[in-house]
Formats: sequence, C-alpha cells, structure tokens
Amino acid sequence: MDTSLDELVAEFDPGLPLERARSLPSPWYVDPRVALLERERVFGASWQLVARADQLERPGDFVTTEVAGEPLLVLRDDAGELRAFFNVCRHRAACVMTEPQGNARRLRCRYHGWTYDLRGQLRGLPEFEGVEEFRREEQGLVPVHVDRWGPMVFVHLGEAPPPLGEWLAPLPVEMGTLEGLRFLERREYTLACNWKVFVDNYLDGGYHVNTVHPALGSVLQYSEYRTECFERTSLQSSPLRAGDDAAAAATRKGDRARYAWAFPNVMINLYAGVMDTNVVLPLGTERCRVLIDFYFADLESERAQELARQSVELGHRIQLEDLGVCEDVQKGLGSRSYRTGRFSVRREVAIHHFHRLVAARLQARRG
Ligand code: FES
Ligand SMILES: [Fe+2]
Repeated sequence: MDTSLDELVAEFDPGLPLERARSLPSPWYVDPRVALLERERVFGASWQLVARADQLERPGDFVTTEVAGEPLLVLRDDAGELRAFFNVCRHRAACVMTEPQGNARRLRCRYHGWTYDLRGQLRGLPEFEGVEEFRREEQGLVPVHVDRWGPMVFVHLGEAPPPLGEWLAPLPVEMGTLEGLRFLERREYTLACNWKVFVDNYLDGGYHVNTVHPALGSVLQYSEYRTECFERTSLQSSPLRAGDDAAAAATRKGDRARYAWAFPNVMINLYAGVMDTNVVLPLGTERCRVLIDFYFADLESERAQELARQSVELGHRIQLEDLGVCEDVQKGLGSRSYRTGRFSVRREVAIHHFHRLVAARLQARRG
C-alpha cells in the first residue's frame, strides 16, 4: 500500500521532547518525492556555501555552480562588490558562463553572443533590431542574494532571506572572522547514502567518535564534549588533550575542537590554525557528494606545509571511516525492519534539532 506524500511528511512529530522523540521516518531517506520537496523547501530556501572568497578576489573573477538544480553565477564586479545571478541567458536560457571558474570582463553567452556586464546588465545583443516591446534594461541577468563569512561565499535563492550573519548566528561570534585561514586543497567524495545520513552522522554529539574514529578520539576529552543548539545552527565542542595518535596530536591542537553546523548542509571543523569545511549535496535520494575544503593559518615554512599535508591525510582517513558507516546506515534505512529510531538524550540533541528543522520546512502547508 502506497503512503501519500502528505501522510509520510506528517509521520514525524516535531512536538515531542528529545526524551520521547523519534528520528525522521526511514522513507524520508529513500523516497524521491521527499527529495524533490527538499530541493525546493530546504536547498532552494537556505543560505548555501558555493564558493571561496579566494576564487573571487579580483574584479571579473567568477564561479559557476548549481543550487537546488538552478544554474548560478557568482562574481566580483568592477566596483569590488560580490554579486550572484541565475546563470541563465535572457534570450534562449542557455548558461551564460560555462567554465567552472575564471576571470571575465564581460559575460558573453556562447549560444548567440549576447553580452552582459559584471553588474548583470545586458549590453550587446546582435541582430535584434526591430524587436518590439523589448527593453534592454529589463533584460539583465536575474540577481540572487550573496554574502560571505570569512573565506566562505554563500548564496540564497529566496526573495527576502534573513541576512547571512543572522542565519549563521552565533557561529561568527563563537568562531571569529576566520580571516587568517588560507585554502590549501579540496577533496571530494561520493557516498551511497542520502545527504541527511551524512548530517546525522556529523551531529551525533561525539557518540561515534571512540567507536569509529580512534585516532581522533585519542585527542578529544570525550567526557567534556558538549553540544549547543541555536536557531538554525549547532555547535559541538570538546577540550583537546595530548593523544597517542601522532598525526592527530600534531594537527588537532588548541584549547578546543569546534564542530559547527549551519542548516541544512554546511559543517565547519576548527582547531588552532586548522579548518575544514564540509558541504554535503544530494545526488538524487540515495547518493550524495561531500566537498571538503582544507584551510590553514600557516603554509609558509616546509614544516608548516608538512603538517598541513598530515592534517589533510588525517581528515581523509576520518572521512573514509565516516563513509563506511554512512553507507551501512543507508542500507539499513531501506530495510523493512526499520522505520525510526530513538535519540541519546546525553549525546544526540543536535540530530533531533536538525530533524525538526527539516520537518518544519517539509510540513509547512503546501500550496
Ligand atoms: S541563449 Fe544566450 S544569446 Fe541566445
Ligand atoms: Fe565521524
């Protein structure tokens, strides 16, 4: 018997306190109708991390990307302003810019050669004389909200989104401007699981650290690990200790490890002088892509570069450990034996918070 989408979406009860709560029903992790609704309600209506500030330093620097299936263009204009647009030509809807990134003085659509300036205004349109009721000034690229926090550039497809600073609160206060950090490299992973499995795994309050990540666990003071939830973000943190894993001890330093999450799919891991950002993007229902960008405060000396390499390798190792469990979980979520699970009150408050935020979007009246 088929469950309707409305019934399925209503199955999660967001009103239950953590002590009595149940996780999102398993079909939310496998049903394409839910994925479609999430595209519109979650990814199409949230600040999405799409580029790094160092890709957009000079006038004319641009990045192309996609959010919620929409082709987008982010750039720095002549006046030094960040701007973002739908990367959709007003003529016949081709993508205006097709390179993943680059530098351009003008935005020239490769299809019929219409050109736009860096503010998105239409400038050149060959052989268009005689077209009636056509106002060039109304045919600019359609703008999208854009803003940044430190090295991270975000866009929001909505009409009047809350400001990015408000969205991310209190992370910029808790974690600082992140200005001194420099990008070193990106690693990409494709996982055979729904994007929410990856987020759930991230938000379990350290519950899986000792079982899945022994090296990382050796430098965390697990009993002091704590989780705080805010409006659209959560922050997990743990004091660090001298551990017996050499790579972890050398690269996971400072007074505390900070693991920040911003709804729906941005995760930021911060240690002293070491940061990586994780963005998880759905690829259909049972696959996702994880983009991990590694940043370091010091990349000058050979010693610093060697430490940075070690740090990336440790990050990679941890990611492979997570990947294994995430893919197992996805299999289990497809099993007829499982529908929903309970939460550790001590550890899993941030997963419950995430589930409520997703449910709030999906359960809002459809119309
Ligand atoms: S679609 Fe861009 S110029 Fe025709
Ligand atoms: Fe993990």
